[in-house]
Amino acid sequence: MSIISTDISKAVALLNAEALVAIPTETVYGLAGNIFSEKAIASIFETKKRPFFNPLIVHIPSVDTLATVVSYIPEKAKRLADAFWPGPLTLVLPKSSRIPDIITAGKDTVAVRIPNHPMALKLLQALDFPLAAPSANPFGSISPTTAQHVNDYFKADIKMVLDGGPCQRGIESTIIGFDGEEPIIYRLGSTSIEAIENVVGSIKIKNKKEIAPDAPGMLERHYAPSTRTVLTEDISEAIAIHRDKRIGVLAFQNLTQHDAVKFQIVLSEANDLQEAASKLYDALHQLDKQNLDIIIAERFPDFGLGKSINDRLQRATVRA
Ligand code: TXA
Ligand code: MG
Repeated sequence: MSIISTDISKAVALLNAEALVAIPTETVYGLAGNIFSEKAIASIFETKKRPFFNPLIVHIPSVDTLATVVSYIPEKAKRLADAFWPGPLTLVLPKSSRIPDIITAGKDTVAVRIPNHPMALKLLQALDFPLAAPSANPFGSISPTTAQHVNDYFKADIKMVLDGGPCQRGIESTIIGFDGEEPIIYRLGSTSIEAIENVVGSIKIKNKKEIAPDAPGMLERHYAPSTRTVLTEDISEAIAIHRDKRIGVLAFQNLTQHDAVKFQIVLSEANDLQEAASKLYDALHQLDKQNLDIIIAERFPDFGLGKSINDRLQRATVRA
């Protein structure tokens, strides 16, 4: 029997019984459990093989609930929440004493967001606790954007994947932390820097590998296929270098003609960055299954969601 189901009441029952359920969000699927259940949270880390130093995002149903999980809300955090929630933005704020240390990896801050997916919201509203939900993939692998991706990863290790269809955004939430009152971007994601700056003015990015990661999702190797992947400005040049190999190509707009190219995916013929973002992880999943020697990925234009796509492609190229 398939663990993939659209039955929200079944998901509610499992979560109330301290089990895990993979849930759809607008960004990627999450592996969700009751934030107050030691058993559920321990099994999130165990199922994902996630190191305990990597804290979890707390998902809440409404802005009213925010005050129960954080102890302070800077003015600019309020503005960002008003502008982007429900939506793909995570705020890292001082935690309230109710949040267990295992959720925050001992940090005094907690990451929070309201997901913008009708089934996730219905589920959260039906529960009397928030859900901790990291992306539903083994640590370091490509995040899942369909129920099938989750099923392929975990099979019988989890009891249920709540199927909400393919994720519309396709890249994880943008994470913003605070230095006092000033917001800082910890992880690029589905809310563009430009959209954020429209709300709070110019913002710093702490997203460089030379600094100790504030968000360990910023570890250099992450979101990685098992096939060797290279990122290039010039696909033809990269193909010429690797022409004796079985090549897969991941391109933004245009198809490539070359005998060495055994499989290729164009992310948006219409030149639409959101369309490309929503298809990115599924494309990496597909490419990774083709038994290729190398995946050649094209670098995206460096603005808007293009920056977030480049960030993920960059991390996909780092070898273990
Ligand atoms: O779109 C998303 O954010 C998805 C969906 C399921 O909501 N979730 C997600 O979770 O991407 P995860 O666990 O794969 O990534 C969460 C990131 C990690 O890099 C973690 O280090 C960071 O959030 N994080 C969590 N709590 C933090 C905190 N208190 N301070 C800094 N970073 C934190
Ligand atoms: Mg993740």
